[in-house]
Amino acid sequence: MNKFNIENLNLYYNDGDTHALKNINLPIPHKKVTALIGPSGCGKSTLLRCLNRMNDLIAGVKIDGLVEMDAEDVYGNIDVANLRIKVGMVFQKANPFPMSIYENVAYGLRAQGISDKKHLDEVVEKSLRSAALWDEVKDRLKSNAFGLSGGQQQRLCIARTIAMEPDVILMDEPTSALDPIATKKIEDLMETLKKDFTIVIVTHSMQQARRISDRTAFFLMGELVEHNDTEHIFMNPTDHRTLGYVNGDFG
Ligand SMILES: Nc1ncnc2c1ncn2[C@@H]1O[C@H](COP(=O)(O)OP(=O)(O)O)[C@@H](O)[C@H]1O
Ligand SMILES: [Mg+2]
Repeated sequence: MNKFNIENLNLYYNDGDTHALKNINLPIPHKKVTALIGPSGCGKSTLLRCLNRMNDLIAGVKIDGLVEMDAEDVYGNIDVANLRIKVGMVFQKANPFPMSIYENVAYGLRAQGISDKKHLDEVVEKSLRSAALWDEVKDRLKSNAFGLSGGQQQRLCIARTIAMEPDVILMDEPTSALDPIATKKIEDLMETLKKDFTIVIVTHSMQQARRISDRTAFFLMGELVEHNDTEHIFMNPTDHRTLGYVNGDFG
């Protein structure tokens, strides 16, 4: 079962001058981890942003083709704010809000007008547990989030996303600013998250893609070269360009 279906998707920046995504066809399976890999500038982040219409916020972008989520046209007449709740996003650099750990996680619910303390307490705890952060912060929920380590801040951002009960979590190089131990914690976390969420992760680390993803899509200069089960991409790719990339011949 596919969460997303992407068909003949083209994206242009600068009013058409930069053709950043070239006729992309990619299914994204439900409750699996899909990794987007390829050299810098090949369009990975651009594709990720198509899934929750974050590119709408960039002036001069033109998009054609189809992106469907649960068989519904993402670029049709839908509630974009609701789409961005259903399709949450975690960025390369952890971006906690300048407030307490608790308020970071409760933020989205409060914005929806929810103020019942018991309910908020429950969601905050559940979300922090899901993000494998609860035990580290349960005694300091009122402390400022900026006091957390980089890896903890990134897990807090994951908890903040989870609190909104998304279906999908998009992650754009979520560990590239982290040390190996913090990276391992997030990779382990993804293993449990995929039981509940569809995950799409951009990573420049082929080892990471191989460790954590079920499916891998390899991009080159705006083109989707191939996509398949991760083991297939790394062990027996169909295209010689994929082979060259996974062998480290170019980067
Ligand atoms: N906001 C933007 N405005 C104009 N061009 C952009 C913008 N973002 C990305 N691009 C261009 O689109 C192409 C793909 O970029 P990107 O999706 O960021 O690649 P990746 O994430 O694989 O490194 C690059 O040529 C990049 O310069
Ligand atoms: Mg990128």
